[in-house]
Amino acid sequence: MALAPTIIVLFGGAGDLVWRKLMPSLFDLHREGRMPEQFAILAVDRLPFRDGDLRKRLLGGVEQFSRNKHLKKADWSAFARHVTYHQGDFQDPATYSNLEMACARMDTAWKAKAGRIFHLATPPEMVQVIPKLLAEAGLHRNRARDRIVVEKPLGHDLDSAREMSRTLRQSFDEAQIFRIDHYLGKETVQNILAFRFANPLFEPIWNRRYVDYVTITVAEEVGVGHRGGYYDHAGALRDMVQNHLMQLLCLVAMEPMVSFDADEIRNKKVDVLHALRTIQRAAIEQYAVRGQYDRGKLHGKDVRAYRQEKDVSRHSRTETFAALKLFVDNWRWQGVPFYLRTGKCLSRQLSEVAIQFRSVPHQSFPAEANRDWSPSRLVLSIQPEEGIVMGFQAKYPGPKMILRPVEMRFAYQDGFEVPSPEAYETLLWDVMNDDQTLFMRADQIEAAWQVLTPVLETWADSIPRNFPNYAAGTCGPKAADELLARAGHAWRPIG
Ligand code: BG6
Repeated sequence: MALAPTIIVLFGGAGDLVWRKLMPSLFDLHREGRMPEQFAILAVDRLPFRDGDLRKRLLGGVEQFSRNKHLKKADWSAFARHVTYHQGDFQDPATYSNLEMACARMDTAWKAKAGRIFHLATPPEMVQVIPKLLAEAGLHRNRARDRIVVEKPLGHDLDSAREMSRTLRQSFDEAQIFRIDHYLGKETVQNILAFRFANPLFEPIWNRRYVDYVTITVAEEVGVGHRGGYYDHAGALRDMVQNHLMQLLCLVAMEPMVSFDADEIRNKKVDVLHALRTIQRAAIEQYAVRGQYDRGKLHGKDVRAYRQEKDVSRHSRTETFAALKLFVDNWRWQGVPFYLRTGKCLSRQLSEVAIQFRSVPHQSFPAEANRDWSPSRLVLSIQPEEGIVMGFQAKYPGPKMILRPVEMRFAYQDGFEVPSPEAYETLLWDVMNDDQTLFMRADQIEAAWQVLTPVLETWADSIPRNFPNYAAGTCGPKAADELLARAGHAWRPIG
């Protein structure tokens, strides 16, 4: 179905997110013929730019980050003529009346009332300002066609998240609000639903009877880069666990949806968050581990300590690594631990979900057969490898019955001939199509903050005396291994 005329307003139009992610994704969508026939991109920011200067700057980002590595001049020109720059202060009502006039001009030229998408690629405090001023200028009135897109951080804690929702809802209906968690736009993350619910094979064993424990890892090689100022007030729990890891947990643990309706899926996901057992502050050490990287070596190169990073306090107590042990208190998962971990400056980039199945109920093979035996494990690889690996036992060739672990692999790049779109391409396309399935609803966000509150509060109250406690380029603090070892469990090596 052809998309109706659309105006995309990018607040923070001269900023990093637009340059690195949004514009390259919009360009790729256009190149593939997936933008509406009539569309305009209005980049709004405070700096003085002429349209031509802005386009030149954006082209640099597109050349670097577009999926299309051999950019054709004609493709860029065809796209760039839809992009204009609008200088304005986000706090000044005049910016919004100018936008209103620009939108009205577009409507006249197109002889149609275009839908408006307001994307806030701005510092988080602007969420308190922009929606209100948009509403005052009457830019949000078409409840079916006008939408607002917000980026994380979606609050700093439960109270600020609630406040943010209140502010947004004063001007927009929940159905108009698209909260981005870019992990949900990744193909491999969306595939968790496909794998679980399009194949009857695994669903019967996807429960406490057969699953021993689950590990969810999002390991990064990168440090905080130029984002020290933001990160030092956030930390791994807020930056990664509250959103990306919690969303992965929901997809792995949720009940089957009845239909592929956005709210049906989001209801099933929020049920998981509501079922998470409250972590008691007195027992925090049995459930949560934090770490901060010291200097170290990565791929043979020296890496400086977190406390030496730009805009980071020399005495920072901020965690750059977090691990949690969580329980989902429902019939399906009672007693099955879900271990989550994430960290910066680790030995390798690796995001995956590993389902560790229970051992067989009775060992009927001779003892010598079992020397290398390990229970079956299913790994959903999210990145950089994209695929699924099933580890199971097979007979080693020879006269005797000897068992050895082997693997069955599916790799995206072999299975399909088309490349995976960037997460932002999928998400921006969904906003234009009014599909909220891959976006977070206010209640999900609040429920995730609720689960983390005892950990955030306890960590804020107690000084981590052992920081820094892992060297850059390693697998994180030892305590994270001990968190699992106490129950006889183990992470998969990061590598
Ligand atoms: C962001 C975090 O949400 O996700 C960053 O703020 C992190 O700190 C990034 O590096 C990781 O995303 P990806 O897609 O590179 O795994």
